[in-house]
Amino acid sequence: MPLVSMRQLLDEAAKGQYGVGAFNVNDMEQIQAIMMAARQTNSPVIVQASRGARAFAEDLYLFKLIQAAAELNPDIPIAMHQDHGNSFDTCKSAIALGYTSVMMDGSLKEDGKTPSTFEENVDVTRRVVDYAHERGVTVEGEIGVLGGVEDGHGAGGSGLEHITDPDQAVEFAERTGVDALAIAIGTSHGAYKFNKKPDGSVLKMDVLIAIHKRLPHTHLVMHGSSSVPKELQDIVNEYGGKLKPTWGVPIEEIQLGIRNGVRKVNVDTDNRLAMTGAIRKVLWTQPEKFDPRDYMKPAREAMAKVVAERMTEFGQAGHAGDYKPIPISEMAKGYANGSLDPRPSLAAR
Ligand code: G3H
Ligand code: 13P
Ligand code: ZN
Repeated sequence: MPLVSMRQLLDEAAKGQYGVGAFNVNDMEQIQAIMMAARQTNSPVIVQASRGARAFAEDLYLFKLIQAAAELNPDIPIAMHQDHGNSFDTCKSAIALGYTSVMMDGSLKEDGKTPSTFEENVDVTRRVVDYAHERGVTVEGEIGVLGGVEDGHGAGGSGLEHITDPDQAVEFAERTGVDALAIAIGTSHGAYKFNKKPDGSVLKMDVLIAIHKRLPHTHLVMHGSSSVPKELQDIVNEYGGKLKPTWGVPIEEIQLGIRNGVRKVNVDTDNRLAMTGAIRKVLWTQPEKFDPRDYMKPAREAMAKVVAERMTEFGQAGHAGDYKPIPISEMAKGYANGSLDPRPSLAAR
């Protein structure tokens, strides 16, 4: 199957009232792990690459691997998404490669660290929307700022510093025309999100629900949504790792989000932990091993297991065959004639 637009995938998820995991990739084994899980659970998939991933893997290697995944899995819809684009040019270059979706994270300035103003965010996101929609490509925007720093990206601090204001979310969605909206509700990127199981004082599901009430037709996105399970932390630490105790986003809170408009759920850290734990275990228990396949194969399997669990928990399992891909050129026509215009004021259709 050709790569599909993320918009189609999320529209279908809204119809079916389920969420779709968006899993970060940097290399072949991670892409294979996601596809193994998708085949096993019969799930549509969103694969996403950060700027760091694109630099690490080199653009063409990574994109050709995704094309290989699409060719080898003709029955599975796959959207290829730029995660946390920091500028118009980053999004443009992803579109030039063939990505079917981009995130313009205008919540931060181009340095990927400094929170931007609302007007700056609207301006750059609107420009990306115009450019991407002309080409049939989906756009995710972000309003509010997550906590934490990953690979130099992020404002730092706790997730509570820039929680999304529901009024601003409505204005942002209307003025930009984004297809999907990432909101800040107290989560952070990386392993260290909460220092105990989060309650409503730190994980603001009430804000999410308020935004969904105001924007019932907008596809909401939860970033920083790894659950950081204790079992995965324990494996890393049992075999020489030094993770400090930490808590992620409980699956039941993500499921509450999915019942309230969340259609895309970003997960990276859980897969990192699963792979690192598996690699550590081989190297620690079998120090004579030196063939990378001896640890990359268990690492790939460990990631596939986590991804399959998330696909089931988010509800996307079983939905791969529900629909035929709409060509990107058709999506472009839909944006041009207004039938795909996602602005909230038009969405009661
Ligand atoms: O946005 C955060 C993702 O986990 C990607 O992280 O920038 O280290 O690749 P990265
Ligand atoms: P985690 O660090 O919680 O996996 O979040 C990933 C993410 O939001 C990628 O954009
Ligand atoms: Zn993110």
